[in-house]
Amino acid sequence: MKNNFWEKLKKSGKPILALAPMAGFTDEPFRQICSAYGADVVYSEMASATALYFHRENDDNETLRLLKWNEAKESKYVVQLFGSNPDHFAVAARIITQKIKPHGIDINFGCPVGKVLKQGAGADLMRNLTRARSVIEATLANTNLPVSVKIRAKSGEVDAVTFLKNVSDLKVSALMIHGRTLSQGFVGDPDYAIVNSARPHFHGVILINGGLNDRETAKRALEVSEADGLGLGRGALARPWLFEEIKDNRDIAYGQSEIVSLLYRHAKLVSELKGEGALVEWRKQACWSVQGLPGASRLRSRLVQVSSMEDVINILNDYGLND
Ligand SMILES: Cc1cc2nc3c(=O)[nH]c(=O)nc-3n(C[C@H](O)[C@H](O)[C@H](O)COP(=O)(O)O)c2cc1C
Repeated sequence: MKNNFWEKLKKSGKPILALAPMAGFTDEPFRQICSAYGADVVYSEMASATALYFHRENDDNETLRLLKWNEAKESKYVVQLFGSNPDHFAVAARIITQKIKPHGIDINFGCPVGKVLKQGAGADLMRNLTRARSVIEATLANTNLPVSVKIRAKSGEVDAVTFLKNVSDLKVSALMIHGRTLSQGFVGDPDYAIVNSARPHFHGVILINGGLNDRETAKRALEVSEADGLGLGRGALARPWLFEEIKDNRDIAYGQSEIVSLLYRHAKLVSELKGEGALVEWRKQACWSVQGLPGASRLRSRLVQVSSMEDVINILNDYGLND
């Protein structure tokens, strides 16, 4: 495949650093921030294949708006789809390819949220091997972009190896494994060594994900897993500069002034790209970044009341904003 950016990144010989998909967080402003800190690949928030299917005649639908991006300011951009109906994935893959034009399309096989599982999507789709295969086939048949999958270490009776054996003949370009099982949810130790057992059954690029909150853990995960790269989740929410730390192999000590300045840049981007009303969503993102600052709980209690750029500036001025 000519446009397989995954293989090109792998050839660089350095670990591929990706911002893992996170609904409510990995929007255009945050992807731009992580790209600037050195993320090689940035995933969108998960988008519903079914919503794209039902709104296929409307080019200005909410889901397409959610997925817009800026080619100049974002690294390799991967749109993640969730759903369970292969016909919906077929239409969604065509729409994304033609209208959003990202670098790749990813399929969600890991989401543990009740309302997603109830639709037979996310981690529920991982344990439905026949349907999972049909969804991947439908996506591959309707795009010329590289297709990747994101799975868990295990969902129900189906572990990563069983899942991969079932699709090993399909041309899937990359795989992100969240090293926790469905029953672990988002807590507990991820199994990084799982990549070693997955490798014989998957020929593309493999990223390991889960609990990569600092440079030391990232280093250990790469050693243990021999993965081609890492997917950073909540570690990047708290410290988007973690990409730079891992890339440059050095600690970056961000103090109050750097964090305040980052919060300001982020809020300004949100306001410019999504409108001032979106600062309400930014509140929860801001709360992640202030962890560990002196007086964090007081700052957090003020940030959760923000509804305008004026509010943001007033609060950050009290913490030494000098932009
Ligand atoms: C708030 C939140 C939203 C998430 N949304 C998605 C999503 O849309 N698609 C997906 O595949 N995984 C999603 N995840 C899972 C993450 O991509 C990642 O697999 C998980 O958080 C484990 O990595 P971590 O321990 O580094 O956070 C989400 C996780 C969080 C915390």
